[in-house]
Amino acid sequence: MKTWQKFLLGIAGVFALTTLAACSSSNNTLDKVKDKGTLTVALNPHFAPFEFKTLQDGKDTVVGADVEIAKAIADELGVKVKFSEMSFDNVLASVQSGKADIAISGISATKERQKTFDFSDTYYESETVLVVKKDDTGTYKQTSDFAKKSVAVQKGSIQEKIAKSNLSDANVVALSQPGEAINELKSGQVDGVVLEKAIAQGYVEQNSDLAVSDIKLKSDSNDAYAVAMPKGSDELKAKVNKVITKLKKEGKIDSFVQDAYALSLKSPTK
Ligand code: ARG
Repeated sequence: MKTWQKFLLGIAGVFALTTLAACSSSNNTLDKVKDKGTLTVALNPHFAPFEFKTLQDGKDTVVGADVEIAKAIADELGVKVKFSEMSFDNVLASVQSGKADIAISGISATKERQKTFDFSDTYYESETVLVVKKDDTGTYKQTSDFAKKSVAVQKGSIQEKIAKSNLSDANVVALSQPGEAINELKSGQVDGVVLEKAIAQGYVEQNSDLAVSDIKLKSDSNDAYAVAMPKGSDELKAKVNKVITKLKKEGKIDSFVQDAYALSLKSPTK
């Protein structure tokens, strides 16, 4: 065979192989997960009672209500579950890039996010509150009292927008973890933290110098939590919804949240 013939044959071979590879790697999320035998779940485990870390048998373990939901989904699919930890502003991006199969991280299924992701049925109603120093509850009575003040939020969360729209004259500081925001409040670097009620409750319970303010914050989006999947995950979504419907019917979601809350108070979150 002449060199040029070998060369052509080589090119044909490479072409055939890539075509084959492209056909066998399915773009169906459910098949992908089943083929791998593992469901990779993206989350930001600094969000008790939904996902946080605690020592179990001397090992740092991710626990929480979302973790229980993820396990139930993996059981339904007959695969193992793997938790992939990251900052919240990377959680949805990792589903989009395919690094994670799904994300369960107290994610509010907003209209805007629905443009880019498929969402399951919602499993938890969320409400956003303002945490302040207990001594300041009398000082801050309405949103306008936050003019020229600083409030902290978790970066990438819907609380970033809620803080900006409700407290328009405040300086909104976006931090990587809710715990950092709470620490800045305690040390006086910020005057308030905008956080979801279920998460705020834990911090207030563990920090006697903090309180949830009576100021009501409005949200114009869908704030309830849902499981995020890549667009076009119809089959996986059907399975996830089946699990969520069952868990809700059995009252399991509420008990997951209550149990995880009790656990988070016993082993303070980082
Ligand atoms: N529910 C809010 C949102 O979707 C905050 C979620 C933060 N979750 C977390 N695990 N840190 O934007």
